[in-house]
Amino acid sequence: MKKTANILVTGGAGFIGSHTVVLLIEQGFNPVIVDDFRNSEKRVLKGIEEITGQIPVVHEVDVVDKEAMHAIFQQYNFEGVIHFAAYKAVGESVQKPLMYYRNNLVSLMNCIELCEEFEVKNFVFSSSCTVYGEPDDILVNENTPIKPANSPYGQTKQVSEQILKDAIDSKNGLRVLCLRYFNPIGAHESSAIGELPIGVPNNLVPYVTQTAIGKLEQLTVFGDDYQTPDGSCIRDYIHVMDLAEAHIHGMKWLSRQKDDTYEILNAGTGVGVSVLEIIHTFEKVTGTALNWKIGPRREGDVSQIYADPKRAFDLLGWKTKRSIEESLKDAWNWEQKLANEK
Ligand code: UFG
Repeated sequence: MKKTANILVTGGAGFIGSHTVVLLIEQGFNPVIVDDFRNSEKRVLKGIEEITGQIPVVHEVDVVDKEAMHAIFQQYNFEGVIHFAAYKAVGESVQKPLMYYRNNLVSLMNCIELCEEFEVKNFVFSSSCTVYGEPDDILVNENTPIKPANSPYGQTKQVSEQILKDAIDSKNGLRVLCLRYFNPIGAHESSAIGELPIGVPNNLVPYVTQTAIGKLEQLTVFGDDYQTPDGSCIRDYIHVMDLAEAHIHGMKWLSRQKDDTYEILNAGTGVGVSVLEIIHTFEKVTGTALNWKIGPRREGDVSQIYADPKRAFDLLGWKTKRSIEESLKDAWNWEQKLANEK
């Protein structure tokens, strides 16, 4: 792959997308962002510029709009696609399943069909550890059997992987890498970009930082009666910059493969951390006391899951470098930066 290759980044203004765009620019690639900003803010573009010194190329387009996407594929000679753009809230997907299916599946199919038409080979897809459902083993590798998804959101990720697999089996000439993300947290070390949840956050770490800064009253720990050492749920929290690096490694790896490649990799640290450990570590590294209480379990939560990251290392030579302390510190610095702007 040419160093200066044009890479389409759908959802490139989002949390993981924006951090990946920064790395692409830093490595000399030409990322082309497609994002309609329904779940992101334009200020992220300024942040990308602040870090890289380059104004990112952006098309304000809905990936579901095939005609508009066709025009973008026509304009650029893409060498790869990183497809982030999707809805991702588990609870919302239960309320609005059709909205999730239409958005997440049609956007994916548009991208695949356009890659076929314009002979774009390399395709990285944002999948999720949600595809494992409630696994029998807590340390999951890519061969861990897929259980029924516990939300329409999870279902869209399972079906998306299947669509990509079927497309490859039809010998469409693509090379696909599905990255199954665990729990991305943190922010760019410069605090120029980070997570911008819209409304009250669903996810733990933004809830923690917003509580610590005083935007939210109190954090509730959803259950302390799980079969885990401290009773709270265990997850694999990965620094968003480590996750962004996985995409760069993945794109480069894909470009060296034969056509009709289909690969799935876990993107996690391999370390499980409990909710209570997150709270205590956050308080320790930031010196900030958190107002929290134990509450009832949240429906649909898996008690514990974390990644076996070995295959990703074997194949891509990629592994995470940043600690949970660093991740929480970066998330906190970002929250403080946001507060100072207001
Ligand atoms: N939690 C709390 N209090 C909160 C928020 C979360 O205790 O206010 C707990 C949850 O119960 C869970 C842990 O923190 O044990 C992590 O919860 P998140 O909502 O941050 O993340 P999830 O693991 O539930 O969800 C993530 C992604 C989803 C993905 C899912 C797959 O956000 O997109 O992993 O398991 F589908």
